Amino acid sequence: HRHLLGIEPLHPEEIRTILDLADQYVDLNRRAVKHADALAGLTQINMFFENSTRTQASFELAGKRLGADVMNMAMQASSIKKGETLIDTALTLNAMHPDLLVVRHPHSGAVDLLAQKVNCAVLNAGDGRHEHPTQALLDALTIRRAKGRLHRLNIAICGDIAHSRVARSNIILLGKMENRVRLVGPPTLMPSQVGELGVEVYEDMREGLKDVDVVMMLRLQRERMDGGFIPSEREYYHRYGLDAEKLSHAREDAIVMHPGPMNRGVEIDGTIADDINRSVIQEQVEMGVAVRMAAMDLLARNLRAADRPAGVMA
Ligand code: CP
Repeated sequence: HRHLLGIEPLHPEEIRTILDLADQYVDLNRRAVKHADALAGLTQINMFFENSTRTQASFELAGKRLGADVMNMAMQASSIKKGETLIDTALTLNAMHPDLLVVRHPHSGAVDLLAQKVNCAVLNAGDGRHEHPTQALLDALTIRRAKGRLHRLNIAICGDIAHSRVARSNIILLGKMENRVRLVGPPTLMPSQVGELGVEVYEDMREGLKDVDVVMMLRLQRERMDGGFIPSEREYYHRYGLDAEKLSHAREDAIVMHPGPMNRGVEIDGTIADDINRSVIQEQVEMGVAVRMAAMDLLARNLRAADRPAGVMA
C-alpha cells in the first residue's frame, strides 16, 4: 500500500505484519526503541485540523524515534483561517517534498481525497466518523499482548458507537481477525446501518458485558451530535457508565480499554480506569507509539521500493 487510509483495505496478514513490527519497537519487557534510522532522510508533516493529544504526540515521537525530520503544522495559525481550502493547503505542502503526511480532519473522506492529490504517503490520523486506523491497530496490539491472541475473543464496544471512527475501525479490524464483536449502548447512539456490520447489538449493558474478554469504552462525542439526541450525563452514567458492578458481568480476567480522551464519571468510573489489574489504558498509549513507528516504517519501505524520482525523496 502507498497510504494508510483505513483498516478496510488491509488483509489479516498485513495487519499481523504491522503488529509484529510494532512488537519490535516496544519489546515484551516494555523497552522502547528510541533511536533508529528507518525514516532517516525523510520528512514527515503532521496536519491536525482537529484537537489531539495522543495521536499527534505519538506520531511526532514515532517519526523522531525513527530519524525523520518532523514538522507539526499549527493549523489554527495556518492560511486555512484565511479561506484556503484543504486541497490547496495540501498541494502547497506537497510542493515542499514531504515523504509522509499525517492528517486528522473533521470530515469523513477528507483524508482519502487529499491522498489522491499528493505524491507522498498519507496516514489517516482520524477523519470524521469514518476511520482511525492506527487507533484500531494499537488497540489490536494491546489486546494481543494482554490476551496472548487476537482471534476468537468476545469483545464489547460500549457507548457512543454512532459518532465513533474508533469503533468503526475496531469493528472492521476485529471482524477480519475472527473475533465476536458486541456493540453495547442506547439505540440512539447506534449507527444506522448496524445490521450490516456483522456484530451483536445490546441495549442492556449487563447483558452486553456477560462473559466478554475485552470491554472497550467510548466517549460521548457531543461535538458530533449537532442538535440530535444528547443524553444527560447522570442518566448516561447510571445506564452505561462502566463501574465495578457492571464490570463484574464480564469475565474475571476481562481487560478494560478506552482510546481517550476519557470523561471520568460519564462513560467510566475513575477507579476502574486507574485499576492496573483491569485497565490497559496506559498500555494503549504506549502501543500507539510502536504501532505508528511500524506503520511509517512499512510505508517508507514501499516509498523506497517504488524508486521515486530524484529530489522527491531526500
Ligand atoms: N485516541 C485518540 O485519538 O486520542 P486524541 O484525540 O487525543 O489523539
